[in-house]
Amino acid sequence: MTRVLVAYGTTRGGTEGVARMIGDDLREHGHEAVVRPAAEVHGVADVDAVVVVGALYAGRWHKDARRFVHRHERELSQRPVWLVATGPLDGSAATEQIAPVGHVRAAAHRIGARGTQTFGGRLLADATGFPASAMAKSSAGDWRDAEQIARWVGMLEAHLTS
Ligand SMILES: Cc1cc2nc3c(=O)[nH]c(=O)nc-3n(C[C@H](O)[C@H](O)[C@H](O)COP(=O)(O)O)c2cc1C
Repeated sequence: MTRVLVAYGTTRGGTEGVARMIGDDLREHGHEAVVRPAAEVHGVADVDAVVVVGALYAGRWHKDARRFVHRHERELSQRPVWLVATGPLDGSAATEQIAPVGHVRAAAHRIGARGTQTFGGRLLADATGFPASAMAKSSAGDWRDAEQIARWVGMLEAHLTS
């Protein structure tokens, strides 16, 4: 059985939901999945593969995801890793392959990640804080697509079982 860590960086909980969907899908494929906040993970030596999921804010990957990759760069470069962003508040991530933001692409290159992926995000209508509350007036909604996420996890299979 492959043991996979799904580490996430979230501000408003939407990305934790994506991480949990990925964890559930991995379990359906017979893997052991450990889903944790990236800031609380102190080592990756005991897992075979890692998925790092971070929210996008103002064009940047969540700091907990960035710091996690930085902290564990050497160990991450020795196992299969995927870097995932959640963000777009429209249907674009479900219909097109969205290019990773610059530092996700750079981090993927440094650690030899197997892939990067962007999924749709979520913004609740009652989001607090500026500018989230202002954005929520026009862009509130949930664009996290469980079927798209399940298909993507299915594509990891070849790497996890080889
Ligand atoms: C202030 C703010 C800035 C955002 N900036 C971006 C962005 O640059 N790119 C993007 O794709 N999504 C952006 N989003 C959408 C968030 O990435 C999306 O809501 C995400 O699901 C939030 O994750 P969280 O709930 O885990 O914090 C932004 C949302 C807010 C509230």
